[in-house]
Amino acid sequence: MQKTLDYIQTHRQRFVEELFELLRIPSISADPAYKDDVLKCAGKVADYLREAGADNVEVCPTKGNPIVYGDKIISAELPTVLVYGHYDVQPADPIELWNRPPFEPYIEKTPLHPDGAIFARGSADDKGQFFMHLKAFEAMMATGTLTCNVKFILEGEEEVGSVSLGGFVEENREKLSCDCILISDTHIYSLEQPTVTTGLRGLSYVEVEVEGPNRDLHSGLYGGAVPNPIHVLSRMIAQLIDDKGHITVDGFYDNVEIVSAEERDEMAKLKDNPEAFSKSIGLKGTEGEEGYTTLERTSIRPTLDANGIWGGYIGEGAKTVIPSKAFAKISMRLVPYQTPEEITGKFRSYFEKIAPDNVRVKVTPHHGGMPYVLPIDTKEFKAAKQAMEEAFGKEVLPYRSGGSIPITSMFEKVLGAKSVLMGFGLDSDAIHSPNEHYGLYNFYKGIESIPLFFAYYSK
Ligand code: BES
Ligand code: MN
Ligand code: MN
Repeated sequence: MQKTLDYIQTHRQRFVEELFELLRIPSISADPAYKDDVLKCAGKVADYLREAGADNVEVCPTKGNPIVYGDKIISAELPTVLVYGHYDVQPADPIELWNRPPFEPYIEKTPLHPDGAIFARGSADDKGQFFMHLKAFEAMMATGTLTCNVKFILEGEEEVGSVSLGGFVEENREKLSCDCILISDTHIYSLEQPTVTTGLRGLSYVEVEVEGPNRDLHSGLYGGAVPNPIHVLSRMIAQLIDDKGHITVDGFYDNVEIVSAEERDEMAKLKDNPEAFSKSIGLKGTEGEEGYTTLERTSIRPTLDANGIWGGYIGEGAKTVIPSKAFAKISMRLVPYQTPEEITGKFRSYFEKIAPDNVRVKVTPHHGGMPYVLPIDTKEFKAAKQAMEEAFGKEVLPYRSGGSIPITSMFEKVLGAKSVLMGFGLDSDAIHSPNEHYGLYNFYKGIESIPLFFAYYSK
């Protein structure tokens, strides 16, 4: 292992410079204007894989953005690890809130990152994280220390719901067959308390529309006598959560996993600090479901949030109008054993039920995803824990995260393998936000942990 670590030490500067090349490409999957950049990024990822020593490197076309594949099979006796990541990124807006342009990476020190952090869109989610695997692989290849077969699958549509990946995996079961899937696309609890992510929430996402009058109305001539869709929608949304923080959708909690007292005690080892949590995001206090800690509310409990709301006049100055329609986007984070189909269906029925008779409502589902859990008695969890404990020199605990990576449950279904979420970001990395960044310390700890994972996993 020392040889591998020495190699990483010697080449650390170059690793960052190469990552910068990827970060300079605005591979935004949500916006078709960036199609060429997405393709360029896929090509660059394939080049890096080849240079690191992978065989069979391919940029596989799909109906959407290409999937980059590469592998290194050294022995049929050894386990095979499938590394997954995504080279697409979220849009950068609101662009004016970035301190520097989002696709011109730079390093700056922060109180949390005294060694410096890499600032750029995609630095933590997920270019900086999947790139750690390319460099760890390069180090293992260069020093002859690879202890597992490895396959890479890097997609370009994660941020838009991994539309093409399911079909690709179905069609390439043999090619992708593996013993486990290794993913760095999550975060640790804190630098003081590193964690392996053992759970992800699922997602159900809907768009709702409330239509009142059949056209926009003069608010003087009609106001006071007609239902205003913005008011109706606001009342309906307000009604979706009661004053104890419970979601009111009929049957919403029917299938929710009841986490045992033992597991809740185990989780409580991660020091829940609601004051620091509030302070870090500029709040005077938190709120949520009664009877649960902040940590539990963001991991083992399902949620409902309006993500956007619009309707009527929002331009310069004042326009006196009662709009015909109002809209909102609403997301629900799911926990085992809820499913997006179940919850979207229940949401639709309930939303239609609470609508007053004098408006029409429409519920349109968007993409969803299943929740995921990695049990802590698996080889996968144990290898990740050991690897990170050695790299960080600290005890590593399991941690269920509130975010979603829907492909984990798809991998399990199609490939019959468990995903290990060995992510190295921090919740303060501002992913999906202006000034996204990734600590250099986190980046290097990740590169060191990966060969250790391979070593423990192959034992
Ligand atoms: N990498 C994130 C998910 C994540 C981040 C999970 C941190 C846990 C901790 C991923 O790229 C993402 O943004 N997922 C989306 C869902 C997807 C279907 C668009 C999410 O969680 O909102
Ligand atoms: Mn991600
Ligand atoms: Mn993301």
